[in-house]
Amino acid sequence: MTEPSLAGKVAIITGGGSGVGAETAVALARMGVHAVVTGRRESRLREVSESLATPGLPVAADLTEPGTPDRVVAAAVDRFARLDIVVHAAGIFEKRPLSATDDEFWQRVIDVNLTAVVALSRSAWPQLCAEAGQVVLVSSVAAERGFPGNSAYAASKGAVRAFGEVLRVEGRPHGVRVITVAPAQIDTELWDGKAPPEVRAEMMRPAGVGGLIAALVSSDRSIDFSPITIEPPFDPWDRSIDGRGTVHREEP
Ligand SMILES: NC(=O)c1ccc[n+]([C@@H]2O[C@H](COP(=O)([O-])OP(=O)(O)OC[C@H]3O[C@@H](n4cnc5c(N)ncnc54)[C@H](OP(=O)(O)O)[C@@H]3O)[C@@H](O)[C@H]2O)c1
Repeated sequence: MTEPSLAGKVAIITGGGSGVGAETAVALARMGVHAVVTGRRESRLREVSESLATPGLPVAADLTEPGTPDRVVAAAVDRFARLDIVVHAAGIFEKRPLSATDDEFWQRVIDVNLTAVVALSRSAWPQLCAEAGQVVLVSSVAAERGFPGNSAYAASKGAVRAFGEVLRVEGRPHGVRVITVAPAQIDTELWDGKAPPEVRAEMMRPAGVGGLIAALVSSDRSIDFSPITIEPPFDPWDRSIDGRGTVHREEP
């Protein structure tokens, strides 16, 4: 039941050009994993891929376009002849009150944060079952805690969490492990323009979160995980309020 060394295994990491995805690729590559990093910005993916300790592969793609999930899986298998791990770290975070949550905005959030996760999981499933592989889903504390302006984001992340719980039981007979991580605030570009530096300084570090995801994936296979909530030791927004007056509250 123990997880043998991850060396030589192959992981697709969405959102691999920045933040949690990029740091997960770095941490997994240190364990000998070939990281196939995907996202829309090719230059960022190339930069990350070239920095990895184990040869990786950048695949520029918009995950909401039909056919992209199959294409990303095919690129991974063509290059490395196997696929063991999928880490779903791509996501968009934008807040709007319900009155401004029009159909276009709702659909865009759901397409990236939920539908693309389902589509890529489905495309990768035969390979993951063949290799007794693993899936990591990045949900959010927003799935369980209500924050104003978060209806689309929270609904998408809540659905990812529910999807993960079903996949977890569907994967068991095939030896596939599914892990859902539900973070609170991480200091990534997702917060650009949404939080002042003193608040961001109190958030979790993306390298820490990427390292944690890699550690979870490399953990003993006799362990199955319920969704894991992770958060900084202090609420970044509450600490910013302390002595500095009121700060408008945003939550991912
Ligand atoms: N940061 C937080 O506080 C926090 C808290 C809880 C959960 N999360 C979740 O953690 C995950 C990672 O986010 P992050 O914090 O690392 O932020 P980030 O740096 O903004 O990462 C998001 C990634 O998603 C990719 N992406 C967005 N739309 C895409 C599309 N249509 N097709 C393909 N890729 C797309 C982006 O790459 P391109 O723009 O190049 O496509 C980017 O690399 C997200 O799911 C986020 O919701 C973050």
